[in-house]
Amino acid sequence: MLKNKLILLGITGGIAAYKSAELARLLIKEGASVQVVMTKSAEAFITPLTMKTITGRPVFSSFFNPDEPGHFSATVHIDLAREPHIAVIAPATANILGKMAAGIADDLLSTVLMAVNTAECPIILAPSMNTSMLHNPAVRNNIAVLRGRGYIVADPQEGFLACGEVGEGRMIEPSGLLEIIKKKIRKAGDFSGLTVLITAGPTREALDPVRFLSNHSSGRMGYALARAAQERGAHVILVSGPTALETPPGVDFYPVVSAQDMYEVVMDKLSAADIVIKSAAVADYRPEKTSAQKIKKGGGEMTLKLVRNPDILKEIGKNKRNIFVVGFAAETENVLDNGKKKIVDKNLDMIVANDLTQEGAGFCAETNIVHLLYRDGREEKVPLMSKYELSHLILDRIREIKHS
Ligand code: CTP
Repeated sequence: MLKNKLILLGITGGIAAYKSAELARLLIKEGASVQVVMTKSAEAFITPLTMKTITGRPVFSSFFNPDEPGHFSATVHIDLAREPHIAVIAPATANILGKMAAGIADDLLSTVLMAVNTAECPIILAPSMNTSMLHNPAVRNNIAVLRGRGYIVADPQEGFLACGEVGEGRMIEPSGLLEIIKKKIRKAGDFSGLTVLITAGPTREALDPVRFLSNHSSGRMGYALARAAQERGAHVILVSGPTALETPPGVDFYPVVSAQDMYEVVMDKLSAADIVIKSAAVADYRPEKTSAQKIKKGGGEMTLKLVRNPDILKEIGKNKRNIFVVGFAAETENVLDNGKKKIVDKNLDMIVANDLTQEGAGFCAETNIVHLLYRDGREEKVPLMSKYELSHLILDRIREIKHS
């Protein structure tokens, strides 16, 4: 299944580097070509000769070509980054995770990883380290940052560690890593030919030139969905309220501010869409009047009159034809009942219901805990997972229903 696929295998300096030889062997058995890039410290754990013999390719660890000693290539990092279909860093030490999270490129491997276009070549990280290091707040934060950017993290496992301790930190076994790689490659392109319209973030409803009504939505869920759909070959239209996030590469991006703006852009783009996913937290109300000048305070109380915004999702449901429509339900009570009611009210195919009161769920978290509710009455409880992983699960379910 990996025939004609080129895998970049990055090896950093940890004892689990010996497992990379086994991983390379498994990949080659599946028909893949494997290009190894090692750090200098990795060479202390496993020799370039071993990796070269297994892969049949020169092994790079510096900007000098290993097969032409003394021949320096200033663009070797670009050449190595351009061709692979997928990159796997195994083992990934605390050091490489920190460098990737911070954007440091001070050797060949970190520079290659900086040059990889992750929209075309997903990167899988297989951390391996002592338990205390793994639980260090800096490492945990770096892993969360990298997950948030769409890197796939193959969680380390519990077991006997090289330092003599027993605990979490063992690199995932090569066979497990191979499954993750195969799954990733299988999914690449399964949304090609489809247009997915995604809304994300909050809306802002202006009171005057300096004030607005809004909510805590960070946009993370919608941006993760956009990234995942783009990686799977979809044409993605992302309509987003104001967020602090970077636009995922390769998507058509339409920034908006108010619910009315979002409504207009979504309705304009709707005819192009095969799938709509409405993860935006749209303000249901806006101030009746927006003052052209800053509102000055008076002596007493102030009353604001609010009027209804259009319900964008409901409008989509009314005109949905063959479009597969997914809504979100952000709830603080009666999550499932409210979610089910919204499926009917808004004529949806599926709703992602989340309980904002649960830790690890909701607006600003990197993770989410949700129930997926379907039009036919089925419900699926989804455990805590990153918003990026959840995005892929949502896309898996959409594909399954569309093909059933
Ligand atoms: N939505 C929308 N337009 C609105 C309000 C909500 O398109 N004016 C969409 C959201 O993007 C989400 C879904 O409707 O996909 C449900 O949003 P939510 O805020 O949970 O529910 P509401 O329908 O606004 O109902 P309520 O606030 O009463 O729970």
